Amino acid sequence: MSSHVPNTPLRTAVVGTGSIARSSHLPALTKLAAEGEVEVVAAVDVDGTAVRTFADEFGIPQASTDLHTMLTETRPDLVVLCTPPAVHREQAVAALAAGAWVWCEKPPCPSLADYDAVEAAEQGDGTGPYASVVFQHRFGSGARHVRALLRGGALGRPLVAHCQTTWYRNQAYYAVPWRGRWATEGGGPAMGHGIHQTDLLLDLMGPWTEVRGMAARLVHDVETEDVSTALVRFADGGVATLVNSVLSPHEVSRIRIDCELATVELTHLYGYRNADWRIIPAPGVPEETVAAWRDFGADEPSSHQAQLRVLVDDIRNGRRHSTSGAGGRRTLELITALYKSAFTGTPVHAGDIGPGDPYYTELHGGAPGWAPAGTREEEDHA
Ligand SMILES: NC(=O)c1ccc[n+]([C@@H]2O[C@H](COP(=O)([O-])OP(=O)(O)OC[C@H]3O[C@@H](n4cnc5c(N)ncnc54)[C@H](O)[C@@H]3O)[C@@H](O)[C@H]2O)c1
Repeated sequence: MSSHVPNTPLRTAVVGTGSIARSSHLPALTKLAAEGEVEVVAAVDVDGTAVRTFADEFGIPQASTDLHTMLTETRPDLVVLCTPPAVHREQAVAALAAGAWVWCEKPPCPSLADYDAVEAAEQGDGTGPYASVVFQHRFGSGARHVRALLRGGALGRPLVAHCQTTWYRNQAYYAVPWRGRWATEGGGPAMGHGIHQTDLLLDLMGPWTEVRGMAARLVHDVETEDVSTALVRFADGGVATLVNSVLSPHEVSRIRIDCELATVELTHLYGYRNADWRIIPAPGVPEETVAAWRDFGADEPSSHQAQLRVLVDDIRNGRRHSTSGAGGRRTLELITALYKSAFTGTPVHAGDIGPGDPYYTELHGGAPGWAPAGTREEEDHA
């Protein structure tokens, strides 16, 4: 077990008490608290009224408006960050420095530079504490089953995939001042909305090697894109299309992977159950084989609760969680590369974007027409 964590309920602090904390984290934490796995000891929010209301409602003993004071006084084992992306880096680094494990909402950070700074702050004596990202769609029983089939080679080589996050957001959604801006939202639908499907695609298909992207701003008055498309190549030779949109009246989240022996298809919106997956065999596959492929076992929907259960087990065993470090970075790197490719008109390869590259520190890369007015590249091109 980790040298940092006792074998008692993990003392957990929730930072940011807005909608995702309320709708997803507290239900998950409450369930695991009932099983003796966690105990929510503190809530933090810059909005004093919001944090007091939240703490009262969920019976949390400490309500604070200051993260640093809470970290010093309470010394939690686990800090769950449910704040906007712009503050994730600073808050994750502070929590790690205080000896806490971190579970940070997506998008993990607004840039690879920020992500790498968090990774550098991990204390890494081999047993944690480590930071990890909320990517709950990797953790439903459907993804677990299909991942095992794909990794074990049962379906043959994955050849061509489609990954689609086609959602709809109206003008009122973008009237909130922090939305649609690089600095505060972190990016457009490639980053903020499609990140879950992109992360699941990578989890199923393995490492990506090359991306060619396109982005457009077709409807909304935003700094970022409101739709993007991309072609992605994978290390084992497979290829995929990627579509991320907030302009699509018929909303759907979909992943389809054509393998040598079967097509796997997932169709849902914000979360899936086993019944949302289909496996369609190629001609000639024996019926017993198909029946085994279609046996997903007990149904565990994709959810914060499903991921939290695995995370708590990892913390207790001093193990790095699968969405930590490189396991979370690859998704942010693909999204960053998609933007670079879209804004420069060139293919981008995995590993291309590092310190010194403008896209390493800002997803708009200073590109004319995309960077906010007044930034360095915009001025250079004026
Ligand atoms: N995993 C998912 O499926 C999912 C779904 C929705 C949102 N999210 C992510 O969750 C995060 C929060 O989104 P939300 O919809 O709950 O936002 P929200 O605006 O409803 O809540 C954010 C809360 O953070 C507080 N806050 C802001 N700055 C703070 C700071 N410096 N310190 C402490 N508190 C601060 C705000 O006062 C607010 O109460 C975002 O990163 C978002 O992308 C994830």
